[in-house]
Amino acid sequence: MKLSEITKVYGNGSLQVPVLHGIDLEVEDGEFIAIMGPSGSGKSTLMNIIGFLDYPTEGIFELNGENIISAKEKHLAKLRNEHIGFVFQQFFLLPRLNAQKNVEAPLIYAGMSKRERAERAKQMLEKVGLGDRVKHLPNQLSGGQKQRVAIARALVNNPTLILADEPTGALDSKTSAQIMELFVQLNKEGKTVIIVTHEEEIAAYTNRIITLRDGKIIDDRRTRP
Ligand SMILES: Nc1ncnc2c1ncn2[C@@H]1O[C@H](COP(=O)(O)OP(=O)(O)OP(=O)(O)O)[C@@H](O)[C@H]1O
Ligand SMILES: [Mg+2]
Repeated sequence: MKLSEITKVYGNGSLQVPVLHGIDLEVEDGEFIAIMGPSGSGKSTLMNIIGFLDYPTEGIFELNGENIISAKEKHLAKLRNEHIGFVFQQFFLLPRLNAQKNVEAPLIYAGMSKRERAERAKQMLEKVGLGDRVKHLPNQLSGGQKQRVAIARALVNNPTLILADEPTGALDSKTSAQIMELFVQLNKEGKTVIIVTHEEEIAAYTNRIITLRDGKIIDDRRTRP
């Protein structure tokens, strides 16, 4: 994926808020990247653009040779469902559904039978180490376990790219380390992983650290070959 001179301005008329100022960023398949920077520097805005949750105001966004900025919302939704898994600081689990049903949710539109869905959700929960918690409701799980359910849900459509915005922001340091080990494993299995974090110790798990400040990339360094 290649972003060139991406800008984002929120609002319109006299209330314009420029947030991203000419972002140039190339991401190869299989990378493991941390995006860092102060609060308000545009990290979440950039993640949302990378995940087609938001449109840039200007610029070029090439994906497999296609400039997806001119793509229709329907096409973007399809790309998003098939290729991207999202993980957020606040988990966003559905409180009345057990772990398995939460993980199944993205499959409901994939035209899969009920049995296949259940099977696939259980597999994903086993993968994240929660094979013994499939029937637990979110409020019966610890923070780290909730985030594992959210990661299982992000993986259930077999995405190529995982976008995680402060995935350890609500977790203690020991649990954070376990969640990061899970991302390391997923990256080793070939997934491209991009996380946002405020913490150096979390960024240290990745192979490339990009620093934003006032909507610009001020540093982009590879920490491992
Ligand atoms: N929908 C919106 N409308 C107007 N301004 C917005 C909107 N979303 C974000 N902003 C502004 O854009 C700027 C960047 O926000 P963003 O959420 O990308 O920052 P961030 O780097 O993720 O910060 P944090 O570390 O606090 O999560 C902020 O000044 C914010 O107020
Ligand atoms: Mg943010």
